[in-house]
Amino acid sequence: MRTDTGQVFKLSDYQPTDYLIASTHMTFRLEEGKATCKAVLSVERRDGVAEGAPLVLDGDGLDLASLKLDGKLLNEGYEATPDRLTLANPPARFDLEIVTRLDPDANKALSGLYRSSGNYCTQCEAEGFRRITYFLDRPDVLSVYSVRIEAPKDGHPVMLSNGNPGETGDLREGWHFAEWHDPHPKPSYLFALVAGDLARVSDRFTTMEGRPVDLGIYVEHGKEDRAAYAMDALKRSMRWDEEVFGRAYDLDVFNIVAVSDFNMGAMENKGLNVFNDKYVLADEATATDADFANIEAIIAHEYFHNWTGNRITCRDWFQLCLKEGLTVFRDHEFSADMRSRGVKRIAEVRLLKSHQFPEDAGPLAHPVRPRAYREINNFYTATVYEKGSEVVRMIRTVLGAETFRAGMDLYFERHDGDAATIEDFLACFEDASGRNLSQFALWYHQAGTPHLSIKASHDARTGQFVLDVEQSVPATPGESRKKLMHIPLAFGLVGPDGEDMAPTGIEGAEVRDGVIHLTKRKHTIRFSGIHERPVPSLLRGFSAPVTLAFEQSEADRMFLARHDNDAFSRWQALDRLFSDELIRLTRLARGGKAMAVDRQLVALAGEIAADGALEPAYRSLALTLPGEADIAREIGEDVDPDAIFAARNVLSTAIADGNGDGFRQLYDGLEETGRFRPDAAQAGRRALRLTLLGYLTGEAETALAKAHFDTAGNMTDLAGALAVLTQKAGGSAAAEAALEAFEARFRDDPLVLDKWFSMQAMMPGDAALARVKGLMDHPGFQIANPNRVRSLIGIWASANQTGFHRPDGEGYAFFAETVLAIGKMNPQVAARLATALRSWRSLEPKRREKARKALVSMANAPDLSTDLKDIVDRTLA
Ligand code: PHE
Ligand code: ZN
Repeated sequence: MRTDTGQVFKLSDYQPTDYLIASTHMTFRLEEGKATCKAVLSVERRDGVAEGAPLVLDGDGLDLASLKLDGKLLNEGYEATPDRLTLANPPARFDLEIVTRLDPDANKALSGLYRSSGNYCTQCEAEGFRRITYFLDRPDVLSVYSVRIEAPKDGHPVMLSNGNPGETGDLREGWHFAEWHDPHPKPSYLFALVAGDLARVSDRFTTMEGRPVDLGIYVEHGKEDRAAYAMDALKRSMRWDEEVFGRAYDLDVFNIVAVSDFNMGAMENKGLNVFNDKYVLADEATATDADFANIEAIIAHEYFHNWTGNRITCRDWFQLCLKEGLTVFRDHEFSADMRSRGVKRIAEVRLLKSHQFPEDAGPLAHPVRPRAYREINNFYTATVYEKGSEVVRMIRTVLGAETFRAGMDLYFERHDGDAATIEDFLACFEDASGRNLSQFALWYHQAGTPHLSIKASHDARTGQFVLDVEQSVPATPGESRKKLMHIPLAFGLVGPDGEDMAPTGIEGAEVRDGVIHLTKRKHTIRFSGIHERPVPSLLRGFSAPVTLAFEQSEADRMFLARHDNDAFSRWQALDRLFSDELIRLTRLARGGKAMAVDRQLVALAGEIAADGALEPAYRSLALTLPGEADIAREIGEDVDPDAIFAARNVLSTAIADGNGDGFRQLYDGLEETGRFRPDAAQAGRRALRLTLLGYLTGEAETALAKAHFDTAGNMTDLAGALAVLTQKAGGSAAAEAALEAFEARFRDDPLVLDKWFSMQAMMPGDAALARVKGLMDHPGFQIANPNRVRSLIGIWASANQTGFHRPDGEGYAFFAETVLAIGKMNPQVAARLATALRSWRSLEPKRREKARKALVSMANAPDLSTDLKDIVDRTLA
């Protein structure tokens, strides 16, 4: 583990390397948890670099066995520490042979070469390759890799690396070898190796260029059937990238390996994606509809990286969003095409608001393209990924779909084989469109969620409708003064018949295709020919990641929720109504006052539930009240999670009481009779039925949920009913019995048991902490496994507002202790967990002080990793 040195890396310090590594030949010998790596680097001094420039290679905790220069053992002229290898005065061109001894069994950080369930695997992004050998471990050093793996046949029938397979054969005494060659130059972070005993699921795909590709998904023996959905998603992704972006695959094989110990979701290594098994394995008995949807999206995401990430990579890690934001945008579009576009957009915006908005509003705020970091692992954030995707979406909105595609084509043509920057990317869209995007580029450079404050007025006599719009960008750490941004505001003026009105003229801003382009602090936009009062529908499709203050009557919002012709806007209007009501009720709860719920809203919920013209998936989302954390974010200060919880309960009870009979009828009518399919239509019906079940269940009404649980024919219904029981009737006999039954059935299936951990971690109130502590002693819980840790500790700390933010601060104290313990093994996972405290400053004073103490106790702990130190210091700053 690297302990913190306080070093800060800055974008402005970027310098190309003095040396290049044209090719890299690696030989791995794997033997009972030990390994050696021989790496032969063909090094060249870059043109124009002075003779005698030292070569400095990165390392991280390396144990050097030997070093040769052009085949001769080196005894002097170099300096090696575990973290660096320096050649004082190397020749202009030479082969450097480095042998390192590795200890994969001892590697609990899951970065570099490690073992998961006995199988060897690697994880090199961002800086894991330097834990394997000394290298110029940075994304702008591209090299052609050949890899040879040697291991005992016993236990290692499968030996994989990047690129195309080469020779295989036997060696002495029961050993064998396999060779791989990747013709595409790549940065070290895309290197991968896997060796072990795994089952292979095979398929084939022929690209639009006529190239036959062997597809393989490697899973634990016995889990082959659970890989079918992932394989199908892979083939659909390959076809979609050809059809929508014109991009074909470029090797003879494409392999995916599922591993059970993995820090992130998955990794796009060239030709050899490595996945968290949670995002590969699925069947109806063990995975929920949400799991299927995630698998489809992540398989696509990693596959799409082949062009946006691998063929065109990042010049440096400040450009991370160049591959991540763009690839998220691509996987969102893929899912929208595979499923329901309107519903997908609502789900995306929900995620953006619940994960990225609080990041942007708190101490960890950073631009989509950061200017500085202490630990790059801490920048795989919602801002880089989700806001990064929104920025690409806005480029399409600003330029139009056709010009956007032309810009993408130009990007692929111009930068194939490059390590590129955001400036390179934007230049392609400027060149394809002839537009200047320098103001737009601020979306990459300025942190913080811009705010729009809008006022409307109408004069029926003159037929003038006016929008007064003002933008502001809040200060964020290190950026107190902000520049004005280019904000695309999609809108409609909805007439009494529900149709958009067509103004005869618009002045005050550039308006094209239903989008107002805001570029100044203030715009007064005048629409003429509007003789009846319109209901403005603003920020349609969430055309920009901004917050919006627009005074609109409840009647107008209800009108939009019922009649806007844009599905997303209907949801947005409803969401605003629910949020405002919840904020109002929370104030009453805090003041100890009685909470009376708006009856009109209760009726509207019933109406939407019953509206057969709306997709069931939409209705399910619409009936899911804003989360407790979302209300907390909107309130912004002096947050009392118990008051929010109480308010949400009152509203949800009122909706249930007001619509009970109708909900019950709908629930009964949604029962699935046909064969299970994980498609969007069926999943939508299951989702709506479970949402209704939530309303129909309470502490004293558990029979229906119990019956749902007992008769469930798939994991979506089983886990869904269990979640309803534990959330709405936690501690009841029915909930406890269901928990027990679930555990008895799935105790040997870790991925399913994770759901059981999460549901208990989510149980509201003070009971959660004791449960979490108790479950850490469950035989199925392993503190070294990231999925287990995230399912139990992560869910409790980030998704259970009342269970984590206990008024007595016991939650924070236990959390700090646990994060420190995890940090000793796995710094990346611990650092990510610690971000659960990022919004501590908006808590009410008593909790705030207790949260601060917990953070300080972490900051003062000895030997903190750079990862954890960086998060905790920034959170406290
Ligand atoms: N690059 C991976 C992705 O597709 C994420 C990742 C980052 C995985 C770092 C492992 C380590 O988004
Ligand atoms: Zn990615």
